[in-house]
Amino acid sequence: MNDAILVTGGAGFIGSNFVLNWIGSTTSSAINLDLMTYAGNPENLSSLDGDRRHLLVRGDICDAKLVGSLLREHQPRAIVHFAAESHVDRSIASPGAFMQTNVQGTFALLEQAKAYWSSLSQADKESFRFLHVSTDEVYGTLGPLDPPFSEATAYAPNSPYAASKAASDHLVRAYHHTWGFPTLTTNCSNNYGPFQFPEKLIPLMILNALESKALPVYGDGMNVRDWLFVEDHCSAIRTVLESGRVGETYNIGGNSERANIDVVKTICDLVDEMRPRAGKGSRRELITYVQDRPGHDRRYAIDASKLLRELGWKPSSEFESGLRKTVRWYLDHASWIENVRTGAYLEWMNKNYSERVAL
Ligand code: NAD
Ligand code: DAU
Repeated sequence: MNDAILVTGGAGFIGSNFVLNWIGSTTSSAINLDLMTYAGNPENLSSLDGDRRHLLVRGDICDAKLVGSLLREHQPRAIVHFAAESHVDRSIASPGAFMQTNVQGTFALLEQAKAYWSSLSQADKESFRFLHVSTDEVYGTLGPLDPPFSEATAYAPNSPYAASKAASDHLVRAYHHTWGFPTLTTNCSNNYGPFQFPEKLIPLMILNALESKALPVYGDGMNVRDWLFVEDHCSAIRTVLESGRVGETYNIGGNSERANIDVVKTICDLVDEMRPRAGKGSRRELITYVQDRPGHDRRYAIDASKLLRELGWKPSSEFESGLRKTVRWYLDHASWIENVRTGAYLEWMNKNYSERVAL
């Protein structure tokens, strides 16, 4: 075994932030297995071009032969598993891909990882880790006065996406319980930051606001999410990877609950400040309430006290300063934006928003 890690889905939003941070702040290498779906973008990793410590492999986590051979060849000391279909609205429109990658893919990866781990020496077996990156959506939804989700909250996934992630969490748990396979699971709240594909709330609203397009807020806009800057998520994953107790799950959150409408209004104000519109009013006037997401979870909130208590981790970014940095990043990366707005992106925008009537 050597010091390298295998990352899955490392060309997506959180995975690419994680890989950049890993290569930038360790002496270790990363083998990055990514299928390059619409959400995978090699441009996120272009600053690593020519860096021998990063190897990007285009391939599917469901491909047992490929995964097995990567593990045998590179002998990583850990696997950090990000690869997934991640967008709730897409899981409502077409759930099949979510079952394939999130459930079948995690199962296939676990099988190969367990076979590799079984072949290691006793000392290497003890230090190997499989870290599964999951979501708070597995816990379902909260009422306004409910306490935040803890690691002991019962699973109650509500969307096909959440159900597929819950299934993958259960598989990971079972591999630890049955075979002693050294797993760690993290359940994180909503992330935002650089490189997020503009189908998700924050980048979608920044881009639409920039172009003075309608800002489509689902339902009454009072659904609450608990926002975490992506760099904080990456630092939490590294903390759990290095010091987490095997077989445990850790919730990760930003202590930043905000109603969607407030997030959108803040984005309008930031874009107005950074790119004033001559002769026009506030971009808040672009806000358009549209038909709600079916089964839309009302509120997510994370209790991350276990991570603080056991491993000393807490988020370092405030939501308002993280959001300001994020808006700035999108304003400064016009060519990145241009390149992700491919046919597949436009097709999705048309499908999701043309059928959503304004309320
Ligand atoms: P993303 O959609 O931006 O990226 C997913 C990546 O996985 C893409 O690069 C894609 O090409 C790759 N991928 C998809 N199917 C694959 C397959 N079969 N084999 C190999 N690669 C494949 O997702 P994200 O927002 O970066 O989320 C990463 C992980 O974090 C996911 O597991 C997600 O459930 C979890 N998560 C996300 C958030 C969030 O707010 N974005 C919060 C909590 C947890
Ligand atoms: O909680 C963690 C989860 O956060 C992750 O597991 C998912 O991968 C990630 O996509 C995210 O899920 P959400 O559904 O919360 O994120 P999204 O950005 O799609 O939506 C955030 C909120 O904004 C949600 O209440 C729906 C609303 N929304 C979203 C879009 C795209 C709108 O009002 N309008 C929109 O156009």
